[in-house]
Amino acid sequence: MPVITKPHEFLESDVYIDLNDLLGRGLYLKCDGFNFGGSVKLRTAASMVAAAGRDGLIGADSILVESSSGNLGIALSVVAASIGRRFTCVIDPRCNRQTADLMRALGAEVVTVTEPSAEGGFLRARQDHVRRLCEEDGRYLWLNQYLNHANWSAHYETTAPEIAKQFPHLDVLFVGVGTGGTVMGCSRYFRDNGADTRIVAVDAVGSVTFGLPAGPRLIPGLGAGVRPPMVDTSLIDDVVHVAEIDTIRACRRLSAQGFLLGGSSGTVLSGALSWLDRNDPGRELSAVAIAPDLGERYVDTIYNDSWVAEHFGAQHLRSIA
Ligand SMILES: Cc1ncc(COP(=O)(O)O)c(C=O)c1O
Repeated sequence: MPVITKPHEFLESDVYIDLNDLLGRGLYLKCDGFNFGGSVKLRTAASMVAAAGRDGLIGADSILVESSSGNLGIALSVVAASIGRRFTCVIDPRCNRQTADLMRALGAEVVTVTEPSAEGGFLRARQDHVRRLCEEDGRYLWLNQYLNHANWSAHYETTAPEIAKQFPHLDVLFVGVGTGGTVMGCSRYFRDNGADTRIVAVDAVGSVTFGLPAGPRLIPGLGAGVRPPMVDTSLIDDVVHVAEIDTIRACRRLSAQGFLLGGSSGTVLSGALSWLDRNDPGRELSAVAIAPDLGERYVDTIYNDSWVAEHFGAQHLRSIA
């Protein structure tokens, strides 16, 4: 029985959906949204705040600040509240209203940048805003998930060992990439432990992380408008890009069977299925995909027919129903 006194003490997620029955594919989806932050980002948040605490960076009047498209913001709201510190989250208009409301409910201050930067899109605009806040007021402490080693080490220390314990002979692991923390932590862990598990990164079409041109993206979470410095491509065996309509399709395939998963999870699932179709026609590989979030935060978007029709065209509604 897990008994906790802080919300981020409950991080385990030994829940895997076996997709064999549902989708006819030998793929296990590791569900990482069952915690008090509602996503894998609670691991990142807890790790970064703990590291800042150990380094003596959090004073009595510190205000934690971070740029987030949503899920890390909620996770940091949880952790900041639990240690009695203020938290300011800088978001952009792609962050859905419910996500911002959740942060406020947890006591965070939410600031929205409205204009993308010419070179780095909304990500750069959010980061510029955080930088300005820190320059103007010394109480702000930027955790900076894009550069913080405690981001990837959270997954080295928890996510990857959990998977390795359940799947000691895993052939392939699919990991979505935002900052790159999850994929780098998992890849380093499997390599350091002598496993020959292939690490396949899943990115969104329109993200520049792996050298493709920038393009519009509506679903927050995976992908980046500026190449994330944490991503070391030499530690990644393959990359799959997923178009947002395919993310929606994957989410809807599972929701039709009672599993309401989030946008990042749909992207990773779609990428994993297409990679396996191309690379494992004989269906011999053991495979796990990390599903970082659940679907409640997407009922106004991915799971809303009007939103899908408005942004992707009504012609898609039949194929995703
Ligand atoms: C739900 C969710 N999953 C995954 C990611 C990406 O993971 P990482 O930043 O570790 O690459 C993000 C955001 O960046 C996210 O919000």
